[in-house]
Amino acid sequence: MAAVQSVSIDSPPASATSTGGLPISLAGVEKSFSRLTVLKHFNLTIKPGQFVAVVGRSGGGKSTLLRLIAGLDRPTAGQVLVDQKPVEGLNPHVRLLFQEARLVPWQRVVENVGIARGHNWRQDALATLSDVGLEGRENDWPSVLSGGQKQRVALARALVSKPSLLLLDEPFGALDALTRIEMHKLLDGIWRRRGFTTLLITHDVAEAVALADRVIVLREGFIALDISIDLERPRRELADARAVELQRQILEAV
Ligand SMILES: Nc1ncnc2c1ncn2[C@@H]1O[C@H](COP(=O)(O)OP(=O)(O)O)[C@@H](O)[C@H]1O
Ligand SMILES: [Mg+2]
Repeated sequence: MAAVQSVSIDSPPASATSTGGLPISLAGVEKSFSRLTVLKHFNLTIKPGQFVAVVGRSGGGKSTLLRLIAGLDRPTAGQVLVDQKPVEGLNPHVRLLFQEARLVPWQRVVENVGIARGHNWRQDALATLSDVGLEGRENDWPSVLSGGQKQRVALARALVSKPSLLLLDEPFGALDALTRIEMHKLLDGIWRRRGFTTLLITHDVAEAVALADRVIVLREGFIALDISIDLERPRRELADARAVELQRQILEAV
């Protein structure tokens, strides 16, 4: 909770609009926790506006990778660049979304979205709530919302400042299958309209193929597979043979 709040407080100016996405580059990155090395000689370049999914087994270093890019943690060695600059703490153009919505229970939906309370915060929050399909729910308390609706509020809170990089750590992992598919459609539409760079951590291979331009399989600190997903959008999950073939390739590498 503390981390999310501090991410939101330092907002870009209200006049800022999406820059169309920030590039990411990791060169020779290593991350160790005492004797455990989680990422080894890790190199990765992500283009502005790309939608990249990272899949891998639990404990494989996915969240660690996201935390380094977010500036929530530092590499043991090597360099992490966002927008061609070394990451030093939280960047106001970067927003995060986690599996739990982490809403403030004593604040209404609109106040949760406009948590940074910048200029025009209420108007911006209402517009973003409409973007995520929650028009008219602004005065609800978080406790009356379903899991999917809570994640929509959390997504709106992440999007309200028009970030240029969205970092998602298993954001739909706790949702039922139908709600997850609705969230995929929502995120795909918003990403296509706004063009921010997106890094999605997921253990769901179908989700990765449904959403990403590129899927990276992280295994024991290395990139075991890095493939382009050349499917037209919007994608219907599991709808075509090519998607199934891509899922098979990814599952073999995990
Ligand atoms: N702060 C930490 N201190 C010690 N070990 C950690 C810490 N964060 C993560 N780890 C360890 O690093 C490994 C990778 O964790 P993580 O990046 O969370 O994996 P994933 O998100 O792929 O499940 C795990 O073995 C985990 O226990
Ligand atoms: Mg994780």
